[in-house]
Amino acid sequence: MRTGLLLLAGFLTAGLCATATAETPVERGRYLVESIAGCGNCHSLQDAGGPIAGKELAGGPLMKEAVFEAYPPNLTPDRETGLGGWSDDEIVRAIREGRSRDGRVMGPPMPFGLYRGIADDDVRAIVAYLRTVKPVINKAPATVYRMPLPESWGPPVAGVQAPARSDPVAYGGYLAGPVGHCVECHTPISAKGELQMTRLGAGTREFAGPWGVSISRNITPATLGDWSDAEIKQAITRGVSRDGTRLMPPMGYGYYAKMTDADLDALIAWMRSLKPVD
Ligand code: HEC
Ligand code: HEC
Repeated sequence: MRTGLLLLAGFLTAGLCATATAETPVERGRYLVESIAGCGNCHSLQDAGGPIAGKELAGGPLMKEAVFEAYPPNLTPDRETGLGGWSDDEIVRAIREGRSRDGRVMGPPMPFGLYRGIADDDVRAIVAYLRTVKPVINKAPATVYRMPLPESWGPPVAGVQAPARSDPVAYGGYLAGPVGHCVECHTPISAKGELQMTRLGAGTREFAGPWGVSISRNITPATLGDWSDAEIKQAITRGVSRDGTRLMPPMGYGYYAKMTDADLDALIAWMRSLKPVD
């Protein structure tokens, strides 16, 4: 009897601890959007100090390349100019399948190919969080593509699960791929515009903007091999390279600064597992 009660007591405490630490979907969504996913890096107007206060996620600046003029739209719950009138399923479909509310296929630079891999729980959490941000009135102009778009990014996405956090390399790969799209910027692209997966993490992509031109760096063990974890974390979260130089945009250092240590450790475990590519 006594053992039974003790066991029961142990059970209850364990249960309470689990509820005390478990995140709600809104908290999980806030964490993802404000850190590793960094949606605001495109969807918010920013100045040197980061997103402009009161305008977070209300639509970002024009992103111009030879093949598109993209205006990241308003993700706040304003009914007329934001996502207020959209259903959860419509927002999920836009994020993971690259289809707008009216069924139109959307193109780059939003990394739809990778976002297909965002887990069901995580994409629902992102939507739950977007519902809670302050509505801001801001109508973004339509994006213009001067390139052929695929008919679709693939079949409808359903039933995606994240790898277990107990496997840091796999979970870090999930963060670096589907959620954080590190691989999109840090992998060379072929002449056809496809990521060269045999050179995953080798860098060399060019990004032009108000900062000039930045070139994504090699994040495989060919360069980071002898860096300490602290040096890699400083580069990712503070934008300061090992030699002390300040790293340029468009990498969203300020977003990554909000990542948990466990998630940063997983990212580093994944980077250290990559094939070294020169
Ligand atoms: C690299 C820039 C970039 C990133 C990162 C990005 N987006 Fe986008 N997003 C865009 C652009 C540009 C469009 C408009 C495309 C179009 O209309 O053809 C868009 C469209 C959307 C739409 C459709 C909205 C509408 O009104 O049509 C949603 C929803 C959305 N993004 C959510 C997100 C979320 C959530 C994240 C983070 C997980 C994210 N985006 C990350 C650039 C980005
Ligand atoms: C939007 C594109 C983009 C995204 C997304 C991005 N990066 Fe970067 N990253 C860059 C660019 C460009 C540089 C180089 C900046 C410079 O040279 O000033 C860089 C630099 C780095 C460096 C510094 C290396 C060195 O030699 O100092 C590391 C480490 C790194 N990125 C890792 C990551 C990781 C991990 C992620 C995902 C969490 C990520 N990056 C996401 C574009 C990006």
